[in-house]
Amino acid sequence: MSNRSDQRIAVVGLGYVGLPLAIAFTEAGLQVEGIDANGPRVAELAAAHSPIDDISDERLATALADGLSVAEPPSAHLADADVVFVCVPTPITRSKDPDLGPVLNAATLIREHLRAGQLVVLQSTTFPGTTSGPFREELERSGLVAGRDFDLAFAPERVNPGDPASASKGVPRLVGATSQAATGRAAALLRCINDNVIELSSPDAAELAKLLENVFRNVNIALVNQLALLCERMGLDVWEVIDAAATKPFGFMRFTPGPGVGGHCIPVDPYYLSWRAREFDFIDRFVELAGDINFAMPRHVVDLVAEALNDRGKALKGARVGVLGVAFKPNVRDARNSPAAAVIAGLADRGADVHFHDPHVDVFVDADGTQHHGVGLDDLLGASDVVTVVTAHKAIDWDRVFDRADLVVDTVDSSRDRAVRPRQVLRLGAGWSARTSR
Ligand SMILES: NC(=O)c1ccc[n+]([C@@H]2O[C@H](COP(=O)([O-])OP(=O)(O)OC[C@H]3O[C@@H](n4cnc5c(N)ncnc54)[C@H](O)[C@@H]3O)[C@@H](O)[C@H]2O)c1
Repeated sequence: MSNRSDQRIAVVGLGYVGLPLAIAFTEAGLQVEGIDANGPRVAELAAAHSPIDDISDERLATALADGLSVAEPPSAHLADADVVFVCVPTPITRSKDPDLGPVLNAATLIREHLRAGQLVVLQSTTFPGTTSGPFREELERSGLVAGRDFDLAFAPERVNPGDPASASKGVPRLVGATSQAATGRAAALLRCINDNVIELSSPDAAELAKLLENVFRNVNIALVNQLALLCERMGLDVWEVIDAAATKPFGFMRFTPGPGVGGHCIPVDPYYLSWRAREFDFIDRFVELAGDINFAMPRHVVDLVAEALNDRGKALKGARVGVLGVAFKPNVRDARNSPAAAVIAGLADRGADVHFHDPHVDVFVDADGTQHHGVGLDDLLGASDVVTVVTAHKAIDWDRVFDRADLVVDTVDSSRDRAVRPRQVLRLGAGWSARTSR
């Protein structure tokens, strides 16, 4: 194996995971080629325009000046790489089964150039058995054998878009390969960009550890979402209850309810686990129940909007509904799988006239496939019978919102500590606002 500084790296898939990885290796002094099947994305990157919040154009430009190259598959130099990382999407189908299409397409691309001595590292989140199963089988169609001719590893990613600390060298990384030697090889390479690489016994263990991280989050969000529904019936404030429980200094972790889950990971990854579990005649009811609860939350938000309008003697049908925030979480432009898609489609399906404002997102496609163009905050506030808060970006002028909006449905406690009027705000998990701020 060549020594660390000589290693040539290829990164297949230059999105939220692959681009920061390619830049980190470039900054560590390695020679890196980034490869992406999306031509416009490659052109954008080559022009030093970063499509990702956490990577600035300046940082990308510096990496390009320092030797990072980007290419579409036909003009890539995969055979020259010593190590190939795969960071392509792992979506689910409409029926919520894993879609390994992008991962297997990437494997086909690599297989066409695979040569003895290479190390291939899958980073895409997936079910246990992918790396050593279908991914390996596709690579071995080259005639080369994993463990004998080339090395194969799985190393999950922990980056959390919008949280630069999550990409720091101090966040531990996991890796497991098809042999102990290959695990050591992959770990040694990852130590160029990370201070704490943990070696596991197999790719399967690393794949399941990554799924556990995301399933843990999904299950706990489902737990507090259920609690929110219960609190609405009991006349209690779920936010007060959660804050109170969170004063316990041990054995409790704070999760908050909301309009549903979004992004590439939390709404998707649990289904990778439950699908794989069924192959072992094991129904993972816990995981599936959590998914069902979280997927039902946008419908509950639509019901809350109807309830709020009802309080004013208005019907949802024909009402003008303004949605505030459509990104899947605050302070990012990433709107993939955002619960806003189901909220907007659900409102429109019941006859509402829906508009949105999001300082980070200009165009948004709802769950029915309808494209919406964002409007200015003042336009939204001036033309809405009810404003529904889905994502509480810091960049929104909240004083203005609660000053001007007559009626607000607040799904994320954005009205906390603000002066609000009695029955101005219907809060998810807590009911109507009382006289002033809390
Ligand atoms: N986004 C996150 O925060 C995050 C965190 C941890 C893990 N992950 C996992 O990492 C993987 C990648 O996620 P992402 O958010 O970076 O996705 P992304 O959609 O941002 O980027 C994926 C890129 O891969 C490219 N691509 C798709 N198929 C390709 C192919 N066959 N060959 C070359 N390029 C191809 C796409 O054009 C796209 O640019 C997923 O499995 C995801 O679950 C994501």
